[in-house]
Amino acid sequence: MIKRVLSYGHELIRHAIQPGESVVDATCGNGNDTVMLSQATGPTGQVYAFDIQSQAIAQTKKKLEKDKISNVTLIHDGHEHADNYLPKELVGKLAGAIFNLGYLPGSDKQVITKPTHTITAIDKLIHYLKPEGIIVCVVYYGHEGGNDEKDALLDHLSNYDQKYFQVLQYGFVNQKNNPPFILAIEKKQTSQK
Ligand SMILES: C[S@@+](CC[C@H](N)C(=O)[O-])C[C@H]1O[C@@H](n2cnc3c(N)ncnc32)[C@H](O)[C@@H]1O
Repeated sequence: MIKRVLSYGHELIRHAIQPGESVVDATCGNGNDTVMLSQATGPTGQVYAFDIQSQAIAQTKKKLEKDKISNVTLIHDGHEHADNYLPKELVGKLAGAIFNLGYLPGSDKQVITKPTHTITAIDKLIHYLKPEGIIVCVVYYGHEGGNDEKDALLDHLSNYDQKYFQVLQYGFVNQKNNPPFILAIEKKQTSQK
């Protein structure tokens, strides 16, 4: 059976995480990925969850409280500033990060992830990633501005040196209405970045 896009993205990142490790949810939104990451790292691990909207931070906080989850640091700021929040000791040790691009479902469609911010954040997080760590981006691009982000991201990640990184694109080519797809970046053992 071919895995659906979202569940394949979750499988990829879960596979990279060992209990006790740290991970990033770069766009926590309603908190669904944050909860999944929190379970994957376990109580001794740490999730750093970013969002620029207070509504998203509040929604995620509510979900965490309901599930009695305490291994998440919520950060009300853009992921492009991730290096201001991640401890320096995490360089080369981060197990993974997930980005859900686009707008927060059920909210203002004007607030969307932006190409320059997403690319800056990925370039910064790559530095923190452990060898064989993974960054998963779920690329939604059906909204206004979405195509620009998709094209910029594909262009940027296509130029990642294959000696150090594997970049995967995964999606369905016969689905209607701009279905989301995955871009996943794995840091190779040989990487010096
Ligand atoms: C598709 S939603 C995320 C959905 C979420 N993962 C979930 O499980 O519900 C995208 C989110 O990215 C947030 N966002 C936009 N630009 C951002 C940035 N620069 N840094 C962090 N979050 C950002 C939006 O506020 C929105 O909540």
